[in-house]
Order: sequence, then structure tokens, then C-alpha cells
Amino acid sequence: MIKINLSAKAKKAVSQKFSFYTEAIWEKEKHNFKGTLEHVFSAKKLEVFTLLEDEGIHYLVGLGAEPQEFEMQAAASKFSYSFRKKIQAVETCLNVRNFSETQIESLVKGLFLGTYTYPFKAEHPVFENKFNLVLEGHSEQKLKTLTMKTAALCEGQFTCMEWLNKPQNYKRVPHISEFLQEIADKYNLKRTVFNREHCHELGLGAFLSVNQGSSQEAAFTILEYQSGNPEAKTVGLVGKCVLFDTGGISIKGSENLHYMKSDMGGAAAVIGTLIAAAARKLPVNLIVILPITDNAVSNTAYIPSDVITAYNGKTIEILNTDAEGRMTLADGLSYLAKNYKTDALIDLATLTGSSVRMFGYTCGAYFSNNESLKKSLEKAGDKTNQRLWNLPLWDIWKDDFKSDVADFKNISSKPFGDCIVAGKFLEQFIEEHPNWAHLDIAGVAFGNVDYMKDKGATGYGVQFLLDFLENY
Ligand code: BES
Ligand code: ZN
Ligand code: ZN
Repeated sequence: MIKINLSAKAKKAVSQKFSFYTEAIWEKEKHNFKGTLEHVFSAKKLEVFTLLEDEGIHYLVGLGAEPQEFEMQAAASKFSYSFRKKIQAVETCLNVRNFSETQIESLVKGLFLGTYTYPFKAEHPVFENKFNLVLEGHSEQKLKTLTMKTAALCEGQFTCMEWLNKPQNYKRVPHISEFLQEIADKYNLKRTVFNREHCHELGLGAFLSVNQGSSQEAAFTILEYQSGNPEAKTVGLVGKCVLFDTGGISIKGSENLHYMKSDMGGAAAVIGTLIAAAARKLPVNLIVILPITDNAVSNTAYIPSDVITAYNGKTIEILNTDAEGRMTLADGLSYLAKNYKTDALIDLATLTGSSVRMFGYTCGAYFSNNESLKKSLEKAGDKTNQRLWNLPLWDIWKDDFKSDVADFKNISSKPFGDCIVAGKFLEQFIEEHPNWAHLDIAGVAFGNVDYMKDKGATGYGVQFLLDFLENY
């Protein structure tokens, strides 16, 4: 359990203090420093000035001119990562008294989220009560709510990042299944797992086609969070959970292959969101499906030309075993749509290189059949700076995966627009759910981060989905 101590009372004598300023606030406040700092500090973004005061060291931290809240969060996060050793070394006072409530919330989120390092340590400052914020003029109740919200977000997002960062040999099916059982026990979630044999009986043929080449048992996992609120809406979430994607028989090249440990980025975002939502007791019900497997090369692996039957009875001709994500999600989506009544159905997946080529690391590509859902998703994306851009689902794209020998083939006949084709393919498995969205997050889940030299988990999706659920 994460414990954060946000103290309402300013500590009389602290050995270390950090004060945040936007350029405008600094203009108003700088006279408090007897005019001597005017020429040496101007509160530019991430400018830090160190003062020696009677009480100890005082760091002034700039946030730039008129930063939006997500920019404040990003600046606070970068700052707390660079100063994490100092913050951990001695008791620290963080002075944010000049800001509005929502600005403070952004700063606090940034400060705590920025302390993530891999591998995560139990003696982490967020867990160890090492942060003390001076929040003058705010009630104890408000502090308590902020504490609880920030702790829940950290627990969800750190868990998401931790699982994504783990190497392949530390995140095999038994590891993640054991972890999901712990989470289910802790948060009183209902957990159901179908192994390979059970998946056969149920007819989850698209998911099984990917798992059949694996030395690991299938784990088609369902987690249910019931808020207990009779008014609560129910949201279905499906996360691509390919623990490692070799490409299968249509094998990938060896360059950068290690990044394919991040092919469970959709699942990581969904698990992080589930944890944070349950920790906060959000008044929304969640049905989460994680079709867990890896995509391995072996003599039992599925082979191009195979025709398989999916859970909804549609047949799929396999032409590329590296287009495995859409196979696992197809059954995840139709199992959820057929067996649960949900108000919204959302899937997240590191699905296509095509979306990375289109948007790079800037935003995810999303597809939806519902205008109001589109608006809510974009609002949440813009607010949390975990951005999304909408792409079309026109029927013309359906022609691209028509097969001569089955209902569909698993790749397009054309060498372009694969993220759209993949989205259109998934639409064939939502059982006409009127409120569905597919988020292709291949470019944004794993990338350049402050805490690693190589690429690492960004935590994309947790804050965004939480914000969406909070306002749903
Ligand atoms: N997991 C990959 C997509 C991916 C690419 C994720 C880059 C993260 C970064 C997916 O399973 C895949 O291999 N897709 C293929 C599909 C193709 C064979 C139609 C791709 O995008 O190349
Ligand atoms: Zn693949
Ligand atoms: Zn994949």
C-alpha cells in the first residue's frame, strides 16, 4: 500500500524546501526575496535556483510562462526525477501554496509519478512518507482526497510501467497470473481464467491459434470490478496481452526484437487503470479481458494458410502470423460483447507498426463507432496529454481483408493503412456493440523516458482511462 504524507502544517524548520513558480507568479512574489534574485531567476521552465536560508536549502523551481496543467505535471515530474536522490535523502518540504486546487493536483501527480525508476524499489519515497507538502489554505479533507487519488494513480501507473519493463523471462504466464490473483485478492475482484483446454471447449479459436505454438499455457483472463453502486455504468476493457511477440513463423528481424517485450502495453494500461479505479472505489463497473499468451516460433505454431474459426463463428485465413494481436483481441472482444452487458467497450493494443509510422511517439490512433464516445475519449486525452487522434472506419477498408477461403484474412492485400485495416478487422468481432473504441497505442506505450537510457514504459493510458472513467 502506498502511503503519502501531505502535511497541512508548514514545518517550522526543514532542512530542504522546494518552491514552484510560474513566470507570472514569480513576478508577483519576487519582492519577497528583497529584490536580490531578479537577475538570477526568472521561473523559466525547469530553471532551478538554489538559496541558502536560515532554515536550510531552498530550491526555486520554474514552470515557465502560463503552463497548462499537463505541462505543470510534466515539469514537476521531470524535476522530481532529477532531484529524487535529494528528495529521498532528507525530509523535504514542497511549497505549492500559490496554485489553484487543480494545478496543485497536477503538480502533486507529477512529483510523485516522476519518482518511478526501474526496477521499482519497495523502499521508494512514495511508499516511505518522504514527501511533505505545504498546502496552506487547504482543508484536511481536501488533502486526504488528494493523498488518496495520488496514491491510487501511482499504484496503478507504477504497476503498469513495472510489468511492461520486465524482461520476457520474468513475465511468463505463471508470473503474471500469480500477480493478477494477488490484485484480485487485494481489491476483491472476481477473476476467471480459461486455460488452453477450456478455451478449446469455449471455441476461442482465434486466441488459441496464437497460443498453440507456445510452451506456455493459455490464460484467457477475466477480471471484474463491481463498484456496488446501483447507478454505475459498466465499461468493458480488453487489453492486448502478448507477453512477447517474435512474429511467430512470419518471424520478425532480430534488430530491436527485445522491444517486443512491450507487446502487452494494452494490458498493462488496463491493469493499471483497474488497480487505480478499484483503489479509489470509482463508481463504475469494469469487466476486463486479457487474452494472455506469447507469440512464439515452434513446430506447433500456427502457419500462414491456416484457416481458424473465431469465437463468434467467423473464419479467418492466416496470412501473416505476426498479425497476432488482432487474433487475440478478436476473441477478447466477442467474448466480452456476447457474455456481458456493457455501456461502453474499449480495447487497447500495441497493435501495428503502421500507427507508429503515422504518429510516431506523439499520440495513439483511435477508431470508434460512436460520436459521443469519441468526444469523451479526446477530452480525456487532451486533458492528460495522453493524446489520441481519430481515424476512419469506412466500409471500403473491409474489402482489403476479404479472403477467398474464409470470411476474412488476417492482413490486408495492400501495403498501406494497416492500422486502419486492423481497426476495421476488429470491428467484425464487436457483435454490433454500439459504443466501441479501439486504441492503437504501439507508438506511445513504450519509448524514450527519463529513467532509462534505452526505451522504457511511459505509463500511457492509465491517467487517460482514469480520467475518462471518472467523467463517464
Ligand atoms: N506487436 C506488433 C506491432 C508493434 C510494432 C508494436 C511496433 C510496437 C511497436 C504487431 O503484432 C505486429 O507485428 N504487427 C505487424 C502487422 C503486419 C504483419 C500486418 C506490423 O505492424 O508490422
Ligand atoms: Zn506481431
Ligand atoms: Zn504484436
